[in-house]
Amino acid sequence: MFAIPTAIDPTASELSHATTAAFFDIARDEVFRLETKRMWLRWPHHTDAANIASWAGLAEVADMTATWPIDVTDTNVRQRIATARAENSSGTAMRFVMVNKDQPTYAMGQIGIVGHANGTGHVGYHLDPACNGLGLMTEALTRVVEIAGHVSGLTQLDAGVRLINPASRRVLEKCGFVHVGQGISTSAFRGDMPVDQFEHLLPQRRRLAWAA
Ligand SMILES: CC(C)(COP(=O)(O)OP(=O)(O)OC[C@H]1O[C@@H](n2cnc3c(N)ncnc32)[C@H](O)[C@@H]1OP(=O)(O)O)[C@@H](O)C(=O)NCCC(=O)NCCS
Repeated sequence: MFAIPTAIDPTASELSHATTAAFFDIARDEVFRLETKRMWLRWPHHTDAANIASWAGLAEVADMTATWPIDVTDTNVRQRIATARAENSSGTAMRFVMVNKDQPTYAMGQIGIVGHANGTGHVGYHLDPACNGLGLMTEALTRVVEIAGHVSGLTQLDAGVRLINPASRRVLEKCGFVHVGQGISTSAFRGDMPVDQFEHLLPQRRRLAWAA
């Protein structure tokens, strides 16, 4: 067992990596968005706050994360959105809201990668439970991993999943993450939590281009 200093999900961390290199240059402007078969993955908007708070603070959702409190307030989500947008601008993170193409103003989930100085990106996500079981997170994460491999300066991704969260573990496995062990994630809201740890190596494409 080893300690995992980072949060289980990066959708709400503080802007603590301001000195980290910009890993996501192409994603630093709000115009950047990703398309999947059913969804747009776009920057979070300030107007998403009440919508996200309505499901992110449910116990069944928040308890699976390290950084979200149960009953999170609209005000707190607004602050998190401001932080997420600042991190996207700095290129240290790539955080998206997941919206259905048919319902583009309804933020049904969030997914993101936070880059760290050692070149590892920490992955996190959460979804409105009304949308569970439709393959949406697998669809979103597949695209996010693909784009991280193409345009980021990261060498690998990692993720931590509570042992009581087989659905999230399955999502990671379906997206090519490999189980590498167990550790402890320390959460301000949940204390010390045993987690399964996963990794995904990224292709060398961008680094080779830089070297050329
Ligand atoms: C976990 C979560 C992301 C899953 O999102 P989703 O869109 O429902 O996931 P998908 O439909 O893409 O895939 C879920 C997979 O888990 C499986 N699954 C669901 N519940 C399961 C369970 N109790 N045991 C085992 N597998 C389970 C599904 O069958 C599916 O696998 P399959 O395609 O092989 O059948 C979502 O429920 C969520 O956000 N939960 C709360 C927050 C959270 O857990 N965040 C992640 C923190 S690490």
